[in-house]
Amino acid sequence: MSMRFLFTGTLLAIGMGYMFALVYVYASDAGRDGNPALTVEDIQMSYRGSSEGTRLESALRGPMSAMLSVDERILIEGWISGGAVKDEYETLIQPIVAQNCLDCHDGGNPHLDNLDGFDNIQSVVEQDTGTDLFTLVRVSHIHLFGVTFIFFIMGFIFSHAYVRPLWLKSLVVFTPFICIAADVSSWYFTKLFAPFAWVVMIAGGVMALCFACMWLVSMYQMWFYTPPEFISERDAGLLD
Ligand code: HEC
Repeated sequence: MSMRFLFTGTLLAIGMGYMFALVYVYASDAGRDGNPALTVEDIQMSYRGSSEGTRLESALRGPMSAMLSVDERILIEGWISGGAVKDEYETLIQPIVAQNCLDCHDGGNPHLDNLDGFDNIQSVVEQDTGTDLFTLVRVSHIHLFGVTFIFFIMGFIFSHAYVRPLWLKSLVVFTPFICIAADVSSWYFTKLFAPFAWVVMIAGGVMALCFACMWLVSMYQMWFYTPPEFISERDAGLLD
């Protein structure tokens, strides 16, 4: 019984974590291409950058869209398409940035682009080449370690469930590890060849499916399911 509570608590917390991860993916990547759903184009823009538009523009359409009004965004886009010149920056753009962006982008946080002043903002109005390699490497190692932990714990709990045929059970346990490897390596391949964004998308989907499957089966069997008699008898035999 105490083990059942341990597993249940773990499943609840890890399930919540997964939900937040999905919200995060949506908030950081969806809408880059103008379509509010999460699309393959969003993933391509995130990893490869965009052939039309700068990093500032894709941020303003995606993750930073809530930070300013539509009118202000249109002004900034107009300024960029007009060549991002200094005069116009000082009269029109600087006040918008100061009011909406500098709370976070004043250079105080080394992980956020410093947008304070004309010289600093240059780095985000250059052509967008997507997430840089160093960031990808940093996120890759965090991701590989983190996801391995999650699916080790999930798989360990799920391995106690009664699921037949055995190959199916093993497949559900093993597939997420293939997916995370395919997912992370495809971030880099997407930089070289855009269609790899499909692998990122599909691997993420299959991983979520395995997660849901293991979560539901484990939870259900722990609380509502009586295993076949020969299993209970075998376990009783082990106790003797
Ligand atoms: C509340 C804090 C906050 C405010 C205000 C804010 N940002 Fe950000 N900004 C962030 C964080 C955090 C990130 C990193 C997000 C990420 O990596 O997903 C970020 C990332 C960015 C990026 C890089 C995006 C990329 O994909 O490389 C740009 C450009 C940017 N912000 C511009 C702006 C602009 C312009 C404004 C004002 C209109 C603004 N931000 C307001 C917190 C903020």
